Amino acid sequence: MNADPRPLTDEESVNFRTRKWVRPEDLNANGTLFGGSLLRWIDEEAAIYAILQLGNGRVVTKYISEINFVSSAQQGDLIEMGLRATRFGRTSLTMRAEVRNMITRQSILTIEQIVFVNLGPDGLPAPHGYTTITYDRDRVPGTSPTA
Ligand SMILES: CC(C)(COP(=O)(O)OP(=O)(O)OC[C@H]1O[C@@H](n2cnc3c(N)ncnc32)[C@H](O)[C@@H]1OP(=O)(O)O)[C@@H](O)C(=O)NCCC(=O)NCCS
Repeated sequence: MNADPRPLTDEESVNFRTRKWVRPEDLNANGTLFGGSLLRWIDEEAAIYAILQLGNGRVVTKYISEINFVSSAQQGDLIEMGLRATRFGRTSLTMRAEVRNMITRQSILTIEQIVFVNLGPDGLPAPHGYTTITYDRDRVPGTSPTA
């Protein structure tokens, strides 16, 4: 339950980007969207967001805070996922995540903190040097993470 029911300000709200269509293979025994599928999608979305914000393909999930499964989604539902950077640390990036029904805008999931850590070629935490969000593709890494 969200202890803070006030509406989010523009600075706190997420940008919804990726859409998903809930398919039979994404359902749980209750016939609604399986939480594990949703978390997999969110983690991937967060990784892409972190790569684009930090300009480095070598980033890893460090920490995920309390996950609030606010409401369920059904087979055939169109859902959308959104993220927003809330803190640029020295080697880390903290994001807020939300998933909602694309049509009704009913919230499906919220996560207040997802922390990714920027790694150097040695696999150790490395300073990323960024302090603000980019809305462009100016930090897209020149090489893939596996290059
Ligand atoms: C990511 C990893 C290299 C970080 O190592 P570490 O010893 O914790 O590194 P540090 O203590 O230097 O912390 C790195 C950053 O993470 C942050 N951090 C560490 N533990 C944290 C936690 N529990 N919650 C939030 N942030 C945390 C630190 O504050 C630091 O951020 P900053 O530089 O912006 O201040 C190491 O924990 C790791 O390899 N974890 C596995 C990652 C992984 O495989 N993820 C995929 C899922 S299995």
